Amino acid sequence: MNLFLIKGGHIVDPQTGINGRFDILIDKGKIVKIQQNITPPPKTEVIDAKDCFITPSFTDIHVHFRDPGQTYKEDIYTGSLSAVAGGYTTVVCMPNTLPAIDEPSLVRYVIEKGEEVGLCRVLPAAAITKGRKGQALTEMSLLKDAGAVYFTDDGSPVIDAYVMRKAMEFAGSIGSFVADHCEDINLSKDGVAHEGEISSALGLPPLPPEAEDTMVARDCVLSMHTGMPVHICHLSTKVGVEIITWAKAMGAKVSAEVTPHHLYLTDEEWLDFDCKAKVSPPLREYEDIEALRWALASGIIDIVATDHAPHAHQEKMAEHQHCPPGMIGLQFALPIVLELVRKDYFGMERLVEVMSVNPAQKIGINPPKIKEGEKAELVIFNPTESWTVEEDVILSKSKNTPLLGRKLIGKVKYTFYKGKIVYRDKQ
Ligand code: NCD
Ligand code: ZN
Repeated sequence: MNLFLIKGGHIVDPQTGINGRFDILIDKGKIVKIQQNITPPPKTEVIDAKDCFITPSFTDIHVHFRDPGQTYKEDIYTGSLSAVAGGYTTVVCMPNTLPAIDEPSLVRYVIEKGEEVGLCRVLPAAAITKGRKGQALTEMSLLKDAGAVYFTDDGSPVIDAYVMRKAMEFAGSIGSFVADHCEDINLSKDGVAHEGEISSALGLPPLPPEAEDTMVARDCVLSMHTGMPVHICHLSTKVGVEIITWAKAMGAKVSAEVTPHHLYLTDEEWLDFDCKAKVSPPLREYEDIEALRWALASGIIDIVATDHAPHAHQEKMAEHQHCPPGMIGLQFALPIVLELVRKDYFGMERLVEVMSVNPAQKIGINPPKIKEGEKAELVIFNPTESWTVEEDVILSKSKNTPLLGRKLIGKVKYTFYKGKIVYRDKQ
């Protein structure tokens, strides 16, 4: 089908200022007309969107698709499927694969696999240090030329401040940036759950928030002194929010992302002792969640990133010390961020900024636009339709999420990528 008419949906795109009900006519993948009451030309598929919003599709700069090396957890095909089901058409894969993405040939491998699958744009981040060991820097120029969109040792921090400073300077000097998984492992030690009432009541090894906060502070200070950018991965604490507020006020080129789970779930998820609650950084307290929500609303936090981290069932069934941290997230991000819109933390334009515009700009790609002449790259979602998170609706290979069995409100109906429908809700 060459012609599509999306009828009666509420379009929101802060880039063009459009916020209202219009029809969208798509011909051979291109948006050719945005107007009220367009009559469908012959042989047009009409999509009824009267209960839906239509926005530019989303970009997730932090996912783990586990290829190469651990494709029993996820692969680029199943990862892409869950991305488009969540309304995403661009994702950035983390380099903590086996082997780590620390050479140009591995960067090209991920890009080529993503293109072969063809459902969405799959871009790799490359490691900061060889083998993610925290010591020798990778060949950043070559990795960037091969297509790496930024540098991170995610899964592990860069403990040595000298190495981090050099990495920041080098990545910045080639027009890229480093992103840090902020965790002082001397403080986090064998911690499993956020240090607080819950960890002590349950006797779970505690993981103090200062393990994250001290590293966030260090990175902000390094960025301020070097004048080079740094991106903070999965910010999770109220003190972290204060540190970033300060760093931004000082003119540091700091950006930060927050995950949907840190915006929505607390350490109370541990009450049934289920390791599905185990994630790095750990789920925190309600006060942290509130601080993160307001920071996202005010612009202190720039980006929502899922940190989609699939792990196999048997791995998540292990005892809490041995169970790997991480939870899947691509299909749940939109309903969780919509919950914040419903609760008036911010409006729909801000949702589009933090899920689409800002993350795309951060990695140097043009964010999709809902505009005549543009390729259709958009998501159509019903903000009030509820659904239950069940294993058979999860398109990821892994089902590790504490949300299993829970009801979420907000459902992706269609995702368009490069002018084509790459996801269509079955109901
Ligand atoms: C991530 C993973 O599984 O690769 N886990 C997680 O809990 N977020 C790595 C990481 O970001 O720490
Ligand atoms: Zn991480």
